[in-house]
Amino acid sequence: MVTAGMRRYKIRTPEQARLIGQESHEPLDLPAMFGALRPLRVEIGFGHGEFITAMAAAHPDESFIGVEHDPLRVTKTAHRGNKAGLDNIQLFAADAHSFVRQRLPTACVSRVYILFADPWPKPDHRRRRLVSRAFLLDLARISAPGCQFIFASDTHNYAMQVLSNVSTLPGLWANSYLPAGYRINIPTRFPTLFETYKKEEGCSIAYLSFLRTSQPSPPPLTVPGDGRRNRKVNLRIPRAE
Ligand SMILES: C[S@@+](CC[C@H](N)C(=O)[O-])C[C@H]1O[C@@H](n2cnc3c(N)ncnc32)[C@H](O)[C@@H]1O
Repeated sequence: MVTAGMRRYKIRTPEQARLIGQESHEPLDLPAMFGALRPLRVEIGFGHGEFITAMAAAHPDESFIGVEHDPLRVTKTAHRGNKAGLDNIQLFAADAHSFVRQRLPTACVSRVYILFADPWPKPDHRRRRLVSRAFLLDLARISAPGCQFIFASDTHNYAMQVLSNVSTLPGLWANSYLPAGYRINIPTRFPTLFETYKKEEGCSIAYLSFLRTSQPSPPPLTVPGDGRRNRKVNLRIPRAE
């Protein structure tokens, strides 16, 4: 259901459209999009956009790409971006896995945020979760060595599933939060909307942080229905030396 407050974002103004990238399956031309090549941060599933716009305002010398499959939230975030006078952000209304796989060049990203991804809490629905092994493999390809991948969720079994999935891709990601592998309720500079709601409800939040190693990522999987989430595929991952 579209709330009355969101209905106004059904029509995009030219100013909002300026911050929104075209739909396509082609790889992005990042220098053409942002001018000089600068560190690129990507937020996946940015929702109402409070985090990505605050980060882009705080880091005017870096570029930001946001991916969100709800087009009204994309327009709302572009509206926020314009209000903040941002020119270092591009937003895309797309499925995140397809976008990562098809549109982001190899080793172009310096930081990735996935904050409160849809939790799909019912056991039967967990295969719909975004951060699968196949997704992590595609994420490894687009991440430059040293890229930080940050994941947060109040659904602790999702965070544990991500930890487990990362452990099945040996050598690609180094866990920054060892020995436990995760942290609970750490302070955050720009809390997202969900983070604020969940903290107000008294939920504890699990945070993960990984650094991309310099091990080359395995070749992309050729899966029928390329980019669709949740397909069961056999990954052949080279062992870490
Ligand atoms: C629970 S909300 C969290 C939003 C925001 N990150 C926050 O913390 O407030 C999850 C967001 O991810 C988006 N999303 C879920 N699956 C997605 C996908 N496959 N591709 C792009 N966006 C997705 C949803 O539309 C929603 O806005």
